[in-house]
Formats: sequence, structure tokens, C-alpha cells
Amino acid sequence: MSSEIIAVKGRRVWDSRGRPTVEAEVQLPEGVIGRAIAPAGASTGSAEAFDKRDGGSAFGGFGVNEAVGAVNGEINGALRGLDAADQAGVDETLIQLDGTANKSRLGGNALVATSMAIAHAAANSENLPLWRYLGKDSDEFFLPMPEIQIFGGGAHAGRRVDVQDFMIIAVGAKSYEQALEWTAEVYRAAGELMKKAGHMQGVADEGGYWPAFESNEQALDFLVRAIEDAGFTPGDDVAISLDIAATDFGSGGRYRLAADEKDVDSDGLCEMLLGWIERYPIISIEDPVGEDDPDAMAKFTAAVGDKVEIVADDFICTAADRIKSAASMNACNTALIKPNQAGTLTESKAALDAARDVGWESIVSARSGETEDVTIVHLAVGWCVKQLKVGSFARSERMAKWNEGLRISEVLGGDGGKLPARATFPWGR
Ligand code: PGA
Ligand code: ZN
Repeated sequence: MSSEIIAVKGRRVWDSRGRPTVEAEVQLPEGVIGRAIAPAGASTGSAEAFDKRDGGSAFGGFGVNEAVGAVNGEINGALRGLDAADQAGVDETLIQLDGTANKSRLGGNALVATSMAIAHAAANSENLPLWRYLGKDSDEFFLPMPEIQIFGGGAHAGRRVDVQDFMIIAVGAKSYEQALEWTAEVYRAAGELMKKAGHMQGVADEGGYWPAFESNEQALDFLVRAIEDAGFTPGDDVAISLDIAATDFGSGGRYRLAADEKDVDSDGLCEMLLGWIERYPIISIEDPVGEDDPDAMAKFTAAVGDKVEIVADDFICTAADRIKSAASMNACNTALIKPNQAGTLTESKAALDAARDVGWESIVSARSGETEDVTIVHLAVGWCVKQLKVGSFARSERMAKWNEGLRISEVLGGDGGKLPARATFPWGR
């Protein structure tokens, strides 16, 4: 069937924070369409593709009329007649059309929605699920290990605690389905525990509990207790992973830990985190220091990178060239892959390939502002990425992703969804 693009349509839809965002719909012959929605971050890296907003007073300045207009106007004009099956060619056209280094003219949000919609349309024209279409060169698939938030902090929870994501990874689970079951039990236990202790303040942006903890460490203590209360052995069954998102509370090597009422330098912050790694079953740490602190990142990785995942998010912003330079200084060992940081699927894949070339692990990740769009789950499965980070185990913009994984695992037919072997992760080696 022909996959020639007939039209690209943009529309304004709404995200999980109640803010406008861009949906793109690509039309191919015989009624085939592909559709995708741009997510949005709150704790963003400075090198991310530009999230184009209208400004002004409507919707707090978060309007996307210009970005939607770009899809309906220039993007539609430039893509009509191109082949949706040529993702690289279409993405290159988008990049050239925008013409800026950070996609600020048309908007990274307009571009990423279009780029993902192109992939959906091409897959639909071949009657393939997106993961299968993207994974044409693979014959063995698995489900990504879920990394799921239990407590939200930082920019996603009024800075009640400084650490942004207190997450768990069900390292002992035998299948994707079981990893979700175990997470559900820990999430429930954490909620009960917080209610009893009077720490509950609702949920944060990604569905994790919004804690009223007195310190960052108290959050860790509660997380360990929640794992135990749910009947699991911390570390063996269920381990802890953190996104410090340190760019948000520091610059120039100085950091303000508001919850702990202390100021620290890079060494002080790293020492604190290394202490946590010794005392808590922590197996993964993202953005331990700020994006402008690469030497500290490298020192931290040298200290614990042989057994702990050191994940770069703000620091590399899903960019292949940034990954190459981070690797040349051994700054971390894992890349977070967020398509909207790159702006197109081709660039996201290039970032993933760059991470693989330098021997890093990788994690496909959602943003704090999400929708019902489940494209990232298909990217993780189709591109054979071993880990997926989506936020918590509540709220449908999150659950839509975990549930999509269940559907894919059924198609793959492997007892609840085969997970990558534990021994292939840094924590299992
Ligand atoms: P963001 O948060 O989407 O607000 O950037 C997610 C993250 O930092 O990983
Ligand atoms: Zn992050």
C-alpha cells in the first residue's frame, strides 16, 4: 500500500497538567492515519528541543496555537507527497524546514508530534503495531523493565523534598506483568504508610505521592518500609532508583537542599548520595549533579558506576553528540531517551545508537506532562531498550503506558512479558 503523505493536520489537545499541547495527525491513502501527541517537561535541560508556547495571559502562557499552526501550515506543505515509510527523510525535511539549532522556529513540540505521527501512519499502512514496524531488524523482543515513581518531589511537587523521583524497580520480578503487580503492592503500601504517618498530601505531577517529609532521607526510609510492608525484600525483590534532577536546585557546583536546610558543593552532594547508596538499596541514580557539573558527574561515576546505573538526562538531552562527549569523559553509564528532547524520532534513535556504541545502557522515558499517547512504549519494545520510565502507578496518562506494555506482552506470548535478564543490568553484574 502506498505510504505517500496526503496531509498533516495539527490540533490542540490537553495534557495531564491541564495545559495545551500539540497533536499531529498524518493522513495516508485509503483512510490510513497516524496520530501522536507531544509531551512536555517541567525540569528541562537547557539543550532540549524548544517547547514552543504562545506566551501571553491565556493558559498561563502555555498556549500552542503557533505550534499547531506550524503543523497545519508549513509542515503540512513540506511533507505532503513525501513517503511516510522514509522516517529519516521526513525528519530531515522537518529539521531543514525549522532551520534552527534548537527547533525554536516551528517548535520541538510541533516537530516531535509530527515525527511520531509519521511512524504511526507508516506502521498502520503496513498493518503492523508500531513496535513491530520499528523493530523490523530484530527477531527477539522483550518488555522493558519498569522504573516506577512512588514519591514525587522537586519541580513536580512544590519542592517539598529536593529529590524529584523516588522510584522502584522490581528487580526480582520474573515478568513484566509481575513487575507491575509488585509495584502496585508497594504503591498501595506506601500510600497506607503515609496516611498513617500523616504525611499524605495527594499526588504529584507524575502520580507519585506528594509527601510532606521533613528531609530527603525520610522519603528513603518510608520507601524502604513500603517495600517491606508490601512483603518484599528491599534490594533483592524490589530496589530503589532516584532521579535527583540536581540541575533544578543548583548551578556552578553549589546546591541548595531546601528539605535538609543545607547548602553543599558538588563533593558534598556526591558524598551524601554515596552515603545513601551504602545505606539504602539504591541501584540507579539519575542526574546526581547539575548539567553544568560534568567533572562531578565523572567523579561520581568513577566511584559507583561499576554497580549503579548513573543516568544522564538534563546533561545529554537525548543528543548523540552530547552522549559522545559525555562518554569521552566517562561522565555516566546510562542515557535517558526522551523523544521530545531531541525533536524527531530519527534523532532519538541516533542518540540511542550513540549510547549503545559507547557501551551505555539506555532508558526510554516519558515527561512530567503526558497524555494518553503510548508511543514511547512501542519505542522501548521496538528498539529493544531494556528499561522504561513513565512516572508512577496512578493516573491514566501513566497507566496507559503500563497497560500498553501488557497488550504487547500478550502478542509476544511470553508468560506475562519476558524481561531482560537481571545479569545484563549494572546491578545484576
Ligand atoms: P520532566 O521530568 O519531564 O519534568 O523533565 C522527568 C525527568 O526529569 O526525568
Ligand atoms: Zn530526569
